[in-house]
Order: sequence, then structure tokens, then C-alpha cells
Amino acid sequence: MKNVAILVSGRGSNMVALLGAMERGEVPGRCVLVVSNVPGAPALEEAGRRGIPTVVLPHGDFPTREDHDSAILARLMEAQVDVVCLAGYMRLLSPILIHAFRNRLLNIHPALLPAFPGLHVQRKAVEHGVRFSGCTVHLVDEEVDHGPIVLQAVVPLWPGDDEAALSARILKFEHRLYPAALKLVCEEKCVVEGRRVRLLISDEEYRNLLRTLMDTGETR
Ligand code: GRF
Repeated sequence: MKNVAILVSGRGSNMVALLGAMERGEVPGRCVLVVSNVPGAPALEEAGRRGIPTVVLPHGDFPTREDHDSAILARLMEAQVDVVCLAGYMRLLSPILIHAFRNRLLNIHPALLPAFPGLHVQRKAVEHGVRFSGCTVHLVDEEVDHGPIVLQAVVPLWPGDDEAALSARILKFEHRLYPAALKLVCEEKCVVEGRRVRLLISDEEYRNLLRTLMDTGETR
């Protein structure tokens, strides 16, 4: 059983998906801490309601990004955290956290990386006219939205989609993808080889996993 921390800045729907999966025993992890840089983030209230310890460390209270990350790191160490999930955490990380949790720090991004890193990526996907987008869970490295990919889910665009429609469709798959990826990490089934992640699962397990991560059109 791994000790998991979740870093949030906002609504926290991915946090809720992760907490649910851990509570139901689908992921061999327990959430020991939720950290937010935004006081009053809705995610904090929800975590509190579920009895998860929360801490608010507003980034404005710290002179530098490194000072802020050091304060977060101290709380993570105190809680004996093994794995960290960024779930709508809207701050760039300094090397302090990246190094301390190398290969144990996950992020979810609402596009198929390496396409569309950065912000407002669902809008960019619509504007670009891509036929498929999706979401990616990756290990965090020194570059933004860049580290080794753990899992991805593919989501089609439909004619007439706007940013909101695509975001909502992708979000449903984020909520499947993130727990599935966290499960693999908590089970120590991810071997990082350069920029690739090798999964220690059978072909059949992989096939079943892909099946749960495919949009068959029912979310239209
Ligand atoms: C999600 O779309 C996630 O992929 C991105 O930020 C959003 C957070 O949403 N990194 P929520 O706070 O988890 O609801």
C-alpha cells in the first residue's frame, strides 16, 4: 500500500476520481494528504469532507518558487508520501519537487502528448481541426507536459464540438485514466527506460486496459 498525496488548485474532479478508486480498493494506495496552493479551492472542501488531511500553502506567501516547493516537500515528507499526483495543480514545479519524487510524480494533461502541451489545449485541439484528442498521464520531468507517458486515452472530436463539449468528453476519460495509471505506479508496474515507460503487465491485461480507455462513441 502506497501513501499518496494529491496536489490541487481548483475544482478537483480528478482528485475525486482518484480518491474514489483508492477508497474502493481498486488502487493499492491511501491518500494521506491533499495540498493546495489556492485557499478556498473547491477540491479542499471535498477532501476535508472525506476525512483527508489538507494543507493550504498559498504560493504568494513564499518569495520564490523554490521556497514554496520546499514547504510542500516538507509536508510530503512529514506525511511519508510515496507517490504524488498533480490533479489540476496550476503551478510549474521547481526541480526541488521533481528530483525528490523522480518517477513517483504524476500529472494528467487533457490532450494526447506530445501534441498540445500547455494551457487551453482543448480549445487548441478544436481550432486545429484534429479528429482525435484525449488525455495523458505522464511522469513529471523538468520540462512542462513532457515526461515519460504512463497511459493515454483517445477521444474523438465530433462535428460541431466546441471547447466545452470536447473538455467534458475528455474529462470523463481523465477520470478513468488517472486511477488506472496510479494503480500501475502503486503496484510498481512501471519501469522507466529513457523517455519510455515499460509496463510490467501481460498482453491480456494490456488489452483489457485499452478497452476501458477507448471511447466507443457512447459519450457523444
Ligand atoms: C483537468 O482537465 C486536467 O487534465 C488538467 O486540469 C484539469 C483539472 O480538473 N490538468 P479537475 O480540477 O481535476 O476537475
